[in-house]
Amino acid sequence: MLSISVKEFLFWKKKQLSKGGDDQSFAVLLDFIGGIPTSHLNALILNPEGRIYLKENLDYLGSIWEDHLLNSTPIQYLCGFTFWRDLELNVTDKVLIPRPETELVIDIVFKIFGKESKKLFFAELGTGSGAISIALALAYPLWKGIATDIDQDALDLAARNYLNSTQQSNLKFYCGHWWQPFESFKGKLDLAISNPPYIPKDIYEKLPKEVKNFEPKIALLGGEDGLMHIREIIKDAPLFLKEKGWLILENHFDQGEKVKQLFIKNSFTLVEIVKDFSGIGRFTIGRYK
Ligand SMILES: C[S@@+](CC[C@H](N)C(=O)[O-])C[C@H]1O[C@@H](n2cnc3c(N)ncnc32)[C@H](O)[C@@H]1O
Repeated sequence: MLSISVKEFLFWKKKQLSKGGDDQSFAVLLDFIGGIPTSHLNALILNPEGRIYLKENLDYLGSIWEDHLLNSTPIQYLCGFTFWRDLELNVTDKVLIPRPETELVIDIVFKIFGKESKKLFFAELGTGSGAISIALALAYPLWKGIATDIDQDALDLAARNYLNSTQQSNLKFYCGHWWQPFESFKGKLDLAISNPPYIPKDIYEKLPKEVKNFEPKIALLGGEDGLMHIREIIKDAPLFLKEKGWLILENHFDQGEKVKQLFIKNSFTLVEIVKDFSGIGRFTIGRYK
């Protein structure tokens, strides 16, 4: 650990932020590489005469910040970590950085199932870093979960994140195309969740470079109209869900109505578009019959 005065640290911090970037990304750098959580920092600021202990020196932290600003590399990839709900997850450029707006999916599950202690069986399709499945497996220790991804590197990371988050063993990972690894679980699921790639091709081409140049294309692009994967997931969901099992999908900001119609066409009832905190119809949910 390196020790410097709080005054010197605050001066350096101000200088770094004056070069660009946002407070939230800087907080990720300070926490994961510097070893200073935001809560700790806030307490230190109240005592500018004190000292601060860092895991890495200021030059090293500054060089990572510079890389972030110069090349638009997401700070989470540079640090190898991100926060998501109350989880700390490893991330590499093999997985999408789980987004704050996706966090709401866990609250949707809480709303549907409450804090049930009943044993239920859930699946996540396209787990990436594992964020959604791990949060559910932790919130419901009696539930059993299975999660897929087409990318084995992503799955290895998700499995590592799960091991780092808990000693439970209620979540398993399978590699393959959407429902294909779940052949033996037909008609057995109480709940299926997916945040699939849903960006339409023309929008994908114009994504900001910090997304397009760094995050996996396979995690973002949803074909010509963005609905290619969503269509396939909804079409086959009735084979795998129990009667009255729930399907929850995240979609692009303007896809809610179309996704709702796909649910209805495939025999789902109680179909609803759920808005995120910005008032965007971000999720579509429904019950199979
Ligand atoms: C938008 S990301 C979501 C990742 C994570 N669930 C989250 O919310 O942060 C979509 C994920 O679907 C995976 N994926 C893409 N095509 C797939 C396919 N055909 N079958 C299974 N998974 C796929 C990608 O590798 C990626 O991890």
